Amino acid sequence: MLPAVRSNATLLSPPTQPPFVKASMSSSRFVRACLHQPVDRTPFWFLRQAGRYMPEYMAVRKHHSLLEICRTPEIAAEVTITAAERLGVDAAIIFADLLLPLTPMGLDFEFVNGEGPVVHQPIRTREQIEKLDTTRAAELTYVAQAIEKVAKHFAAPRPDGARGIDNQDQLGIIGFIGAPFTLASYMIEGGGSRNYIEAKKLMYSTDGSWQLLMEKLLTVLTEYAQQQVDAGADVIQIFDSWAGALSISDYRDYCLAATTELVRRVQAMGVPVIYFGVDTASLLPTMKQTGADVLGLDWRTPLDEARKSLGPNLAVQGNLDPITLFAPQEVIESRVKEILAQNAKQPGHIFNLGHGIVPNTPVENVIFVGELIKRLG
Ligand code: CP3
Repeated sequence: MLPAVRSNATLLSPPTQPPFVKASMSSSRFVRACLHQPVDRTPFWFLRQAGRYMPEYMAVRKHHSLLEICRTPEIAAEVTITAAERLGVDAAIIFADLLLPLTPMGLDFEFVNGEGPVVHQPIRTREQIEKLDTTRAAELTYVAQAIEKVAKHFAAPRPDGARGIDNQDQLGIIGFIGAPFTLASYMIEGGGSRNYIEAKKLMYSTDGSWQLLMEKLLTVLTEYAQQQVDAGADVIQIFDSWAGALSISDYRDYCLAATTELVRRVQAMGVPVIYFGVDTASLLPTMKQTGADVLGLDWRTPLDEARKSLGPNLAVQGNLDPITLFAPQEVIESRVKEILAQNAKQPGHIFNLGHGIVPNTPVENVIFVGELIKRLG
């Protein structure tokens, strides 16, 4: 059964531009891999590559809160660039947070030390959903301004004289947004959750509340993604971090249509889409139906098995267990080699972790993985 949200006319409006106008011109190995094109070696970057494990980030955090960093383009750009250069990655993900769009929608939240995000008045009723504002996405342009600065930095001629175009070393710039389900789960639960009882209760409600929430999120997320693409993002990653909490049926009936529509709209902006979730082994074939160019894999599914369940012509990103970065380097090396072997030189692989780098991860091990990929990939 297709969910009600599918039949909504606003979700079916035609794309304004043909896809890949912008991306098809890129020769960065990262963007090429997203488009399933051949590359000179496997591109890599790390989820949460700028974070508390990194002394340079902690030095900035000493003087600024997380939200201050996100909302100050100069600092967000600096944090993004520092992490990308320190690790020698092929892509820089803009420093921002998934929850930023909640503010212009009228929901206050904060990051409580050690607890993660807390939304002060989580939404539980249709009236609250009706009140959510979809007209203020322009307030998020500080993220686009940070992207502009990062794009300008990496577009400058490099010390070796090489320039972006025709050079696969050109860094890709990743903008990102939350997927409708994962963002909705924070808005409804008020923070992280174990069982998603409130989110699922709202999802199962029969008065159209969930569909209305999905539509409102789509409106804001589309505008926010467009700002990021206009500012120079080469690729948009859609984080559906908590999609793994859903059964295949619930994902299909309550999330697939809105996510598919979001993917389609972002692709119509001319960039490829990476769609990522955690604990998604059984959901992968359904997530593929969104039409995303790349699926991000967590570490629980071996890459070759995931590829088998997804079929050809789809790029994948992943999938080293982030906790392996605490192991001795010989263990790390064997796991990295295993993932590369599982990919068996097929086009369309971006090496990454299966989820974000956690605090206290030894920086030298993250750098070691990058060096391995450059040598072996
Ligand atoms: O280089 C990078 O990737 C960092 C940029 C980034 C942040 N948040 C900054 C941040 C990105 C890509 C995110 C996305 C994000 N935010 C996700 C999706 C990615 C994922 O991990 O699945 C989610 C679920 C959030 C919401 C969020 N923000 C949580 C649950 C937390 C607390 C968890 C934690 O690690 O403490 C945050 C805080 C946060 N966002 C931090 C960073 C660097 C760490 C806290 C800090 O610096 O004070």
